[in-house]
Amino acid sequence: MMDTPPVCDYEGSDYRDRFWESKPRSYEDRTEHLALRRLLPPRGRRVVHLGAGFGRMTHELDGYDQVIVLDYSRTMLRDAQARLGRDGRYVYVAADIYRLPLADGSCDAAVMERVIHHMADVCAALRQVRAVLAPGAPFVLEYASKRHLKSTLRYLVRRQDWNPFEREPVAFDALYFNFHPDYMAACLRECGFVTRRKLAVSYFRVGVLKRLIPLSVLVTLDRLMQPTGQIALYSPSVFTLNFATGSTPPAAPDGPLFKCPLCGAHLYEEGDELICPTGDGRWAVRDGIYDFKENLAAEGGKAAAQ
Ligand SMILES: C[S@@+](CC[C@H](N)C(=O)[O-])C[C@H]1O[C@@H](n2cnc3c(N)ncnc32)[C@H](O)[C@@H]1O
Repeated sequence: MMDTPPVCDYEGSDYRDRFWESKPRSYEDRTEHLALRRLLPPRGRRVVHLGAGFGRMTHELDGYDQVIVLDYSRTMLRDAQARLGRDGRYVYVAADIYRLPLADGSCDAAVMERVIHHMADVCAALRQVRAVLAPGAPFVLEYASKRHLKSTLRYLVRRQDWNPFEREPVAFDALYFNFHPDYMAACLRECGFVTRRKLAVSYFRVGVLKRLIPLSVLVTLDRLMQPTGQIALYSPSVFTLNFATGSTPPAAPDGPLFKCPLCGAHLYEEGDELICPTGDGRWAVRDGIYDFKENLAAEGGKAAAQ
């Protein structure tokens, strides 16, 4: 089985409450929704939301016929189910982005925000995303930039030892990275994407500004600033619109959605399980979640994704 980098595990996490609901982050939340709305084509057949978390942004994908809500954490997915419902249009998948179980070319669009900062191997993740997309499909990627006004100022007054202008990612903690825009642009190119638009998001992510300036004013200012990302990127968050290049044939619209994350074979569904025809993989569908975290065919049902 191929080795993949470690995953930042949100199983059992209170992320929703700890990071969003108990903190003054309405400015970030509103400007991120705005950026996604600006970039993602509003309608389509099938979109995958990668690292969707508790579904904070997923309703922005509602113009699509089918929405794959994918995250490594079952806790997050259960929260997303409670928020978005289980009407069949949402397909909940517990899986690792480094080992996507979706058929090649099966998605017409992808969105990934606030996730790649947990990725030690950006290209390995982006190649997986590229593989599940049809040629020409849009991919909205948000990343945390290391080259922003606050980090530049801190570096200049020697309050920070890393240089925001160096291309290499900076690690703040285990599996927490910020990226230089040129580094991310090169990764996207190398992994089969062409970038068409860039938005500079969250310039006003400063405690004192958020306390003193009314939210609606900050959001309006952010709205005006976002398009400047096309020329210069000095914001802490960057939203990009990319398109899948190359000639991978798109999957047949009525073809199987899932492939084996171990060997790539199409999976078939039997009862409450997805099964690989090689016999090496079996995954449960539990409480409306396609759960690729545990391979039931592995010895003793050992977690395949470890
Ligand atoms: C900071 S949260 C962001 C959630 C959501 N995108 C949002 O903006 O509210 C990061 C999410 O990425 C998921 N994640 C991190 N690494 C992952 C991986 N390798 N595969 C799938 N999901 C992953 C985590 O489980 C978590 O839900």
